[in-house]
Amino acid sequence: MISVKNNRLFVGDVAASDLAKRFGTPAYVYDEETVRSKVRALFQGISYRPLKVYYAAKANTNLAILKIIREEGGQGIGIDAVSVGEIECALKAGFRPGQVIFTSTSVTDEEMKFAIAKKVLVNCDSLSQLERYGKLAPGSKVCFRVNPDVGAGHHGHVITGGPESKFGVWVDDVGRAFGIAAKYRLKIVGIHEHIGSGILETGKFLAAMKILLTIIDKHRDKFSDLEFVDFGGGIGVPYRPDQKQIDFKVFGSAVSTLFADFCRSFGKKLSLAIEPGRFIVAESGLLLCTVNTVKRTPAHKFVGVDTGFNHLIRPMAYGSYHPIIVAENCNGNAGEKKEKVAVCGNICESGDVFTRNEEGIADRELPPIKEGAVLAILVAGAYGFSMASTYNTRPRPPEILVSGRNAKIIRRKEDLAHVIYGM
Ligand code: LLP
Repeated sequence: MISVKNNRLFVGDVAASDLAKRFGTPAYVYDEETVRSKVRALFQGISYRPLKVYYAAKANTNLAILKIIREEGGQGIGIDAVSVGEIECALKAGFRPGQVIFTSTSVTDEEMKFAIAKKVLVNCDSLSQLERYGKLAPGSKVCFRVNPDVGAGHHGHVITGGPESKFGVWVDDVGRAFGIAAKYRLKIVGIHEHIGSGILETGKFLAAMKILLTIIDKHRDKFSDLEFVDFGGGIGVPYRPDQKQIDFKVFGSAVSTLFADFCRSFGKKLSLAIEPGRFIVAESGLLLCTVNTVKRTPAHKFVGVDTGFNHLIRPMAYGSYHPIIVAENCNGNAGEKKEKVAVCGNICESGDVFTRNEEGIADRELPPIKEGAVLAILVAGAYGFSMASTYNTRPRPPEILVSGRNAKIIRRKEDLAHVIYGM
């Protein structure tokens, strides 16, 4: 667990400041037990069986993390892969091809050929892809994605349903998919939707489930081969202090009841599939960094650290809030006054500020910070390292896994040879 003891931040049983000393900063650090507990929460919270949890690997593809998820999830776990690279990651982490689903967009024939050769199920994102898939693998099993004309998510960039979204077969075109499937003798074993990411209002997820189930019901005679319904990912986690965890007892039982009732009327016990990414890994991870500069303008006190949006782009890309904590003075010492500061990175753009919202810089109240202090940017296990870049020709940081008292490197820090072509 990630916790505060005696005003100090701990990952598992190791003080974050000790990790900073040992591995240097910046560094991504993950807590193994948190990942495991989130996988368990899904299987415990959703009682419907068979349940398939396809972890959306795009959130974090570190092989050590994938292996932990595979171990903890057992039979019901799998991988939602969006690229040839993610399919490779899944197979390298020990997932069987049958546990992987390939859900991408603007997909090439070469990518589909790769998935077919690896025996991975292809989830088609368009009628065009379905037609091309039919030509490449006639008579095989297939899944396709529907855009149900409803979307949700923490930011416009991650809402994936509705007419503004490029994803899926538009709801009114679903009928045309069956003609293509028949032409190539494809067996439609799965149908899929994913309405967006970072959903804390579970009502939206349930409403979208109902829409997809209504679509299946409308075309029920065409779904004789159906084995599973995949409702996508998107389950949110709290980032801001005013956000709460989803009540999984209530949500899980609503999902299970809805699907069980549907299967009864459909006359077949189908598998229920979901594709959480963020929910499994976000809270397990943090980005450790060190303050090297404190300076002022008339508007802000800037606290400059040795990482930036090259390593964690979420604040810059979506105005996302990430909790920030002073590793050795988490709550502030008695008698100290908190200060409003802007925590900024080392990338040469003004937008490179971790404490921001969509409008711009939003100062954060933190205990007094001196140069040399170690800070932890929390809830960074999902879409942190996986979205990191080498912008400004800066290498990417290492990834560290903490398991109780032990800490080990699960991805080495890059050096300049990784980022300078031809070096
Ligand atoms: N399934 C599909 C088809 C997806 O496109 C996604 C995410 C997921 C599952 C997993 O969604 P999750 O459970 O993690 O919300 N970079 C953004 C999030 C992008 C999500 C893209 N698709 C962020 O940092 O918020």
